[in-house]
Amino acid sequence: MCGIVGYTGKRQAVQVLLNALSSLEYRGYDSAGISVFEQDTIFTVKTKGRLQNLADRLKAGHIPASSCGIGHTRWATHGEPSDVNAHPHATAKLSLVHNGIIENYQALKNSLAVKGYTFLSQTDSEVAACLIDSLYEGDPIEAIRQAQQQIEGAYSFTILFKHHPGEIYATRCSSPLIVAAGEGEYFVASDIPAILPYTRKYALLKEKEIVKVTPDGIVIYEGETAHEPVYQTANWTVEQAQKNGYEHFMRKEIYEQPQALKNTVHPRIADGLPAFEAQDNIPDGFWKRFSRISIVACGTAMHAGMVGRNLIERFARIPVDCDIASEFRYRDPILTKDTLVILISQSGETADTLAALRLAKERGVTTLAIVNVAGSSISREADYVIHTYAGPEIAVASTKAYSVQLSILYLVAFKLAFAQNQLCADEVRKLTGGLLHAIDQTPRALFLDEEIKGYIRRYETLKDLFFLGRGLDYALSMEGSLKLKEISYIHCEAYAAGELKHGTISLITDHVPVVAVATQQALLPKMVSNIKEVCSRGAQVLLICKEGASIDPEIYDHCLRLPDLEDCFMPLVGVIVLQLIAYHTAVLRKCDVDKPRNLAKSVTVE
Ligand code: G6P
Repeated sequence: MCGIVGYTGKRQAVQVLLNALSSLEYRGYDSAGISVFEQDTIFTVKTKGRLQNLADRLKAGHIPASSCGIGHTRWATHGEPSDVNAHPHATAKLSLVHNGIIENYQALKNSLAVKGYTFLSQTDSEVAACLIDSLYEGDPIEAIRQAQQQIEGAYSFTILFKHHPGEIYATRCSSPLIVAAGEGEYFVASDIPAILPYTRKYALLKEKEIVKVTPDGIVIYEGETAHEPVYQTANWTVEQAQKNGYEHFMRKEIYEQPQALKNTVHPRIADGLPAFEAQDNIPDGFWKRFSRISIVACGTAMHAGMVGRNLIERFARIPVDCDIASEFRYRDPILTKDTLVILISQSGETADTLAALRLAKERGVTTLAIVNVAGSSISREADYVIHTYAGPEIAVASTKAYSVQLSILYLVAFKLAFAQNQLCADEVRKLTGGLLHAIDQTPRALFLDEEIKGYIRRYETLKDLFFLGRGLDYALSMEGSLKLKEISYIHCEAYAAGELKHGTISLITDHVPVVAVATQQALLPKMVSNIKEVCSRGAQVLLICKEGASIDPEIYDHCLRLPDLEDCFMPLVGVIVLQLIAYHTAVLRKCDVDKPRNLAKSVTVE
């Protein structure tokens, strides 16, 4: 949440900053702003709303011919979205952009007020700007270092000091920040997509490292020592981070799923069995050690975890908890030595998931992260990491990241089952083959695109909708419901189909739409009974089932038929249909599909 960028080099800084911020807008879009050096001063423009507002304001006014500056796109935490709360925050000596939350900002604000500082905004970030200003006596590194000793909370800062033209200073603590090097030009950014049009050479900043970026290079200050960054090469391409002809990133990412699944799964199969040694450095003996598993994640990743719980319990017969990260932390979870804590995260930066990881490590239990963004905080701090290969996911609503998380959870469940002697090699080979077949079938779910688009025309003015499912279909329904509500703003709920009659069925009246996910052959008779219950109260049912399922057409309004896979693999095709329902509904209702209101893709605050 909040995207930060800094540039110094030979290009027009304003253009580079706007361009880089456009790749970071997924991190928040409540306001945007830039500061650049202009002659012997710092020129700042900031405005409420999307980046386009900032670009328009700059175009209508003055665009300084500067080659060094910083920029910010905001997801509001302290203080409403407004021009004055937008970043950068300027003082007499500096201009600063911030991502994170400064927890002791009120105490710092009070003591700065005593020193004569006044504050224009309601933000914690302006307090940080004033604090560094108060500590600055000519040496930016020293001022930042002293500020670090006083600030409690999470931050990444990028700062221009008025008396150091052409230079950018930056640091981080629990919020992400990278530096990157091009030919005679250097960058600071919250995430890799921001720098891809210019370079793929980047380095991660470690906690509390301070960095000085000039047109001559980058120096990292760590305690008393200074060194150059150790660069790595991003394996993401610019094309991956662009829409490539699709109307929205979400649609593009939905369509990328078959390939992302192949990329993630194929390298992890050897001799027909799941294999994590070569790709992920996880020794075979690892999987024998655990008799309990705790899966922890947020949002869509947590929904993938719910499917994972079902799979691991079913195949490996190991008891599994699945927790929302923000709840896990505060319920004093029971973590025995033989527990494996699995953290799932697309970004690898979600504050609650990161905090849950740290808690697990403090308690001395083994942690395994399933993460999409290599080099992210979670991937660096976990004991073991399995990287998903979805490529950059830009749309705020997660789609391909969910699918690849599921695919890893299948492999983990099969691996555990084999290691713990629940299944023999041939049984596991059969399941792994089933997974590969399911992945090959995912394009067939995409074929339903037009049919879905046609059917959901009736959802244009909808206020409420219910998803029903049992077992894996319940977990899937939770994801379908989240997708629909987050991008189309329709209130919807996912219910375990058998639970509906214990209260919620009172909300089912004439023409209330219900999406019934009924892909589990083993649970079909029970599910059909539940669908009949809502039908007899007037519900308008959109049924999602297997091609071959024989279901009385009287009980549904429309039926979407999915390829006939083994029950356990149906989520891989089912989720695509649910994503397409959400996507087309949001487009129909003219919602901002890729940037839904109030949300951010990477939530780096608690
Ligand atoms: C945010 C996003 C969700 C995402 C969740 C967890 O809320 O809007 O799409 O599922 O964070 O993110 P992570 O990066 O940890 O998977």
